[in-house]
Amino acid sequence: MNIEADEVTVVIDGREIVHGACLGCAPGTLTALDGPSGSGKTTLLHCLGLLQRPTRGRMLVDGTDTTGWRSWQRRRFWQDHAAFVLQDYGVIEEESVAFNVTMAKSVFGSRVVGDRRRVQVALDETGLSGREGELAAHLSGGEKKRLSIARAIYKNARVIFADEPTASLDDGNRARVIELFASLARQGCVVVVATHDAEMMGACNVRYSLRQDTATGVTAAGSAARR
Ligand SMILES: Nc1ncnc2c1ncn2[C@@H]1O[C@H](COP(=O)(O)OP(=O)(O)OP(=O)(O)O)[C@@H](O)[C@H]1O
Ligand SMILES: [Mg+2]
Repeated sequence: MNIEADEVTVVIDGREIVHGACLGCAPGTLTALDGPSGSGKTTLLHCLGLLQRPTRGRMLVDGTDTTGWRSWQRRRFWQDHAAFVLQDYGVIEEESVAFNVTMAKSVFGSRVVGDRRRVQVALDETGLSGREGELAAHLSGGEKKRLSIARAIYKNARVIFADEPTASLDDGNRARVIELFASLARQGCVVVVATHDAEMMGACNVRYSLRQDTATGVTAAGSAARR
């Protein structure tokens, strides 16, 4: 699955947050969106994941223009193909770790259904094994981040959008998460990460830099470089 931004511009309250972004995210590629705080990384990531509509320009999925997509078409893209690791974690606090991985049949503490073996694999890979019965609300920030990564692994998503996935992690878990994303890309996934982390960027095949003009507050056109 190919995800492309074609001249994507986002204007919020009269301010240009993203300016004419042109970027292709292909299977087997780990792509970094980098730039200082406030330069529009999260906004562009949300456009790439079809969570936010650009003000101008087009988002293409496998060459198809998504501009006119209805909500059920975007929902199908999220359900069938995509996983998100969002900056504010995106975990359901009132539910258990296991439910947050499987997202299957539990309302506040009732039974979680799903493939137990795959839950174990996802928790092992993110260093959360043995924690499945705990309430997500009781996890630390870094653990919640790893929980949302475990969800992406369980889902076997082909397209993964991750916002600062290594923020609030210690060195060991950072290295684990970087290797995990690199390995998902090697397996043919599309992986896009918004990041400040130099080591994370070092593992990426493509780097798209967003720069903010500090004098005007306007984000300059980004540039993509393939390593
Ligand atoms: N819904 C919104 N309403 C108003 N301003 C917004 C909105 N979304 C984003 N912005 C503004 O757009 C700019 C870019 O925000 P964004 O979250 O994309 O930056 P970022 O590069 O991800 O920053 P950080 O590294 O701090 O996460 C910020 O100045 C932010 O205030
Ligand atoms: Mg951000």
